[in-house]
Amino acid sequence: MDDRALIKAAFEAMQRAYAPYSRHKVGAALLLGNGEVVTGCNIENAAYGPTVCAERTAIFKAVSEGRRDFVKIAVVGGKDGKVENYSFPCGVCRQVMAEFCAPDFEIITAKSEDDYVVYALSELLPHSFGAANLDGGGEEK
Ligand code: THU
Repeated sequence: MDDRALIKAAFEAMQRAYAPYSRHKVGAALLLGNGEVVTGCNIENAAYGPTVCAERTAIFKAVSEGRRDFVKIAVVGGKDGKVENYSFPCGVCRQVMAEFCAPDFEIITAKSEDDYVVYALSELLPHSFGAANLDGGGEEK
């Protein structure tokens, strides 16, 4: 799966965003080690707080299906689904990525299939807090 195809999947996922409050639609496409793609969109709520970002929707879908071998994620977003800027994962999503992904996990953020930038997770969340910072560590990944 090349980056263009992953970005295309993120654009398709963005169409399914449920964002009646912010009207900011986001789509994410998560590439697994076996080549499968798990997509996610943001899902808002009238109480605002329960809103979930597109990236976490994709990651939680995958983890809940027993998959944790994540290679890269493509993210697109914009008002009413019109993508004009690169859409970066929020801090909470970066922290969730740090839980399941290696420091070299790639985050692709795109304006189109031809116009995108790629960052390593370690660049977007340096010096992260993780299981190693807790007494006894966390569950083995
Ligand atoms: N949003 C995402 O889906 N991903 C991010 O990384 C940033 C924000 C969503 C949440 C909310 O539905 C809307 O964008 C505005 O914050």
